[in-house]
Amino acid sequence: MDERLLNKLLKRKEEGTLRSLSSFEEMIDFFSNDYLGLAQVSHENNLSHGATGSRLISGTSSLILEAEKELASFFKEESALFFNSGYDANLGFFSSVPQRGDTIIYDELIHASVRDGVRLSFANHLSFAHNDVDDLERKIKQANGSVYVAIESLYSMDGDLSPLRKIQQLCDKHNAYLIIDEAHSSGVLAKQVEVLLML
Ligand SMILES: Cc1ncc(COP(=O)(O)O)c(C=O)c1O
Repeated sequence: MDERLLNKLLKRKEEGTLRSLSSFEEMIDFFSNDYLGLAQVSHENNLSHGATGSRLISGTSSLILEAEKELASFFKEESALFFNSGYDANLGFFSSVPQRGDTIIYDELIHASVRDGVRLSFANHLSFAHNDVDDLERKIKQANGSVYVAIESLYSMDGDLSPLRKIQQLCDKHNAYLIIDEAHSSGVLAKQVEVLLML
């Protein structure tokens, strides 16, 4: 993880302001807007009718934790975090992780939700020509702070693939973080993703 981000988290931990997900499934809800307890009326399958509030405040559901574990294992990652939608994921990530003084470099054909997230971020931002690795390298060389490169692996509008392996090598060479939006490839190119990385 980016060292400055890690330090910010450690500082919060020291100050006792670090927030983390907890589960309150067996408890009475005095903290959300589910005043009549309607969200807790169970179906036959034991699913509740609503989340009642944000996971951080109202507590997280064990079903979601289970699903996140499945997802992490699918992507062979340590952990996964669910958002309400792809739009929310891009807004949440790009507006909060890259910090002031950092740079986000995005493919000019990236989905509008990434652009919206970038607009909410305090980081600098610039685009590079679609799938153009040379232009991306030029832009990385102009960038300040921690660099975040945002691409899609399979582009939604034209259905073309990004030169993933080359972009990954470039990011490794320049110590940049590579953020890949897989809205159109997850599950569709699941096995082929490993083949893609060979390109
Ligand atoms: C590449 C990409 N990212 C994000 C999104 C947003 O996803 P959602 O529709 O789940 O908000 C889309 C939607 O089509 C997309 O194509």
